[in-house]
Amino acid sequence: MSSVDLYNEIVQLTRELVRRSAHPRRKTLMLSPEVAAFVTAPATPREDDTEALASLAREVAACTKCDLCTTRTQTVFSDGNPYADLVFVGEAPGADEDRIGRPFVGRAGQLLTDIIVKGMKMRRQDVYICNVLKCRPPENRDPLPEEKRLCEPYLIRQLELVRPKVICALGAHAATTLLQTDLSTGRLRGHWHSYYGIPLRVTYHPSYLLRKPEEKKKAWEDIQHVMRFLTGEEKAERSSASLSVPGGTLA
Ligand code: URA
Repeated sequence: MSSVDLYNEIVQLTRELVRRSAHPRRKTLMLSPEVAAFVTAPATPREDDTEALASLAREVAACTKCDLCTTRTQTVFSDGNPYADLVFVGEAPGADEDRIGRPFVGRAGQLLTDIIVKGMKMRRQDVYICNVLKCRPPENRDPLPEEKRLCEPYLIRQLELVRPKVICALGAHAATTLLQTDLSTGRLRGHWHSYYGIPLRVTYHPSYLLRKPEEKKKAWEDIQHVMRFLTGEEKAERSSASLSVPGGTLA
């Protein structure tokens, strides 16, 4: 059974339950606005989103908007679960990613995997991982502002389709692109931000942590905020020190 069929069946069963528990004569039932919205909403077309993501990946694979298309082996679109609650956004593919076609598979990728598996006690395939740039900058140089500008629409559409509950921006390029700011990672971490209404946390890039292991403690604090948000123990409340960001409001 497809996930859309399953969703429709759950909605049908819920409707039936509501009908049976309704006041017999008045045929009414007291529902909270949230539950009422849920039972009356049409099925979420998540399978269409999966197809839309696949189509976006094909569009990216054919992209020639910047010169990186002439030096890449292949584009690197994403890894993991497109229905994930949590998305990690990194900077750009490196040599290993360019060769294999998946994000975060080199040394930095191993550290990210350790954070997910050993730290968060999740499986790597349960989160969604992507980058700001979909092509490797030669010699692993920093992405150029123009490359980020040209590639950003792909990231925006990708995040729109995945619609995670929370985003973790890995390092300066991801954080500044998503939050449209030039503040440093050090300034941006430690607060909740909002990316078009999706709570966003900034932490250090795994490559930086490999160079500066003494910063791992801070990164782990950031990750723990994300974990507490996912378990409902923490709300993504914006402190007065944090930013106003694209389309976003947080409580
Ligand atoms: N660094 C990134 O930002 N992304 C990758 O995919 C690999 C290394």
